[in-house]
Amino acid sequence: MVRTLVLLALAVIAVLLLAMGGVYLLSEAKLRDFTPGPRFTQAIPTDAASIERGRHVARTRGCMGCHGQQLEGKDFDEQWDWPERAVAPNLARYVREHDVATIEAAIRQGIGADGRALTSMPSFNFTRLGDEDLVALIAFLKSAPIVEIDLPTPKLGWAVRWSFAIGEEKHMAEWADAVPPLRVDSRAEPQRARGEYLALTMCNECHELDVRGLSVFPPPTPDLAMVAGIPRANFETLIKTGTGLNGRKLGLMELVAPDRFPELTDSEIDDLHAYLSSLVNEPAPENVFWRPRRN
Ligand code: HEC
Ligand code: HEC
Repeated sequence: MVRTLVLLALAVIAVLLLAMGGVYLLSEAKLRDFTPGPRFTQAIPTDAASIERGRHVARTRGCMGCHGQQLEGKDFDEQWDWPERAVAPNLARYVREHDVATIEAAIRQGIGADGRALTSMPSFNFTRLGDEDLVALIAFLKSAPIVEIDLPTPKLGWAVRWSFAIGEEKHMAEWADAVPPLRVDSRAEPQRARGEYLALTMCNECHELDVRGLSVFPPPTPDLAMVAGIPRANFETLIKTGTGLNGRKLGLMELVAPDRFPELTDSEIDDLHAYLSSLVNEPAPENVFWRPRRN
């Protein structure tokens, strides 16, 4: 009798370990399932104008908000529990320890230095960054002094591994791959093209990959074609403060907007406003995985 119980207990433990091993292996396979783009090899400038351009890109794209105001890194333990423990690395140090191809793959393709897809870094928001802005951004990061703080080791919990294993969760290389191309012809419509570029590298973190609304993070975000109904001056206040027209707090947007968008120049705001307003004339695509249904 005792022997049977012991055998049974051992069998249960063996099954459990096998299941955990399976989830682990499947999730690791999933995190390595992507096709990397061509290796990026452009030279990084060192002149003051490029570094200043790069600082502007870093500020408006939120690098400091998540990686620390001095790029020293940040532990997201309190804010996000979904991966179990997300830690944004020290960027000033990272760019000195890795080659340009590795840095580009992390920023634009959602691929980490260890060869696995990233899980929390919103690379899809930077996928459409142009080469010129990208090299300026890296130039700025390389010029920043290294500030050291103690950072814990990041951890992917079992719940997250499970969602990757069963294919419920998409990793950042998949999200990055799904970002629509820039469509507006910059010679025919230069202002709309500049606005599209800004929208698809600043607002699509939360307003979905094509900025036409709904979001993987609650609450659902609006289709930014609604900007057509917002006068330029109110639009400026809204994006610089993250507070809606009637004083309504905009959740996540209120959290990041004051860190990122007060830095936008008047002409960048003009371009963004012009592009987003023009979207009322275009139907929002329905056949995309990030917006399966509208309600
Ligand atoms: C919403 C928060 C957030 C923003 C915004 C953000 N990052 Fe990250 N980043 C992270 C997290 C978290 C990680 C750790 C990897 C992970 O969990 O996906 C990370 C990782 C990285 C890595 C290392 C990838 C690796 O493991 O090899 C680089 C490089 C990086 N980020 C650069 C940037 C740059 C440049 C910007 C601004 C253009 C930026 N990040 C904006 C959160 C963010
Ligand atoms: C970090 C996430 C995040 C980013 C980045 C972001 N937004 Fe938002 N935005 C939100 C959320 C959340 C809401 C409000 C959803 C709700 O409560 O209805 C919102 C609402 C809005 C609204 C509607 C305001 C209202 O009064 O209803 C506008 C317009 C808007 N965002 C524009 C932008 C623009 C333009 C950008 C890029 C420059 C941007 N957002 C970037 C998260 C974000």
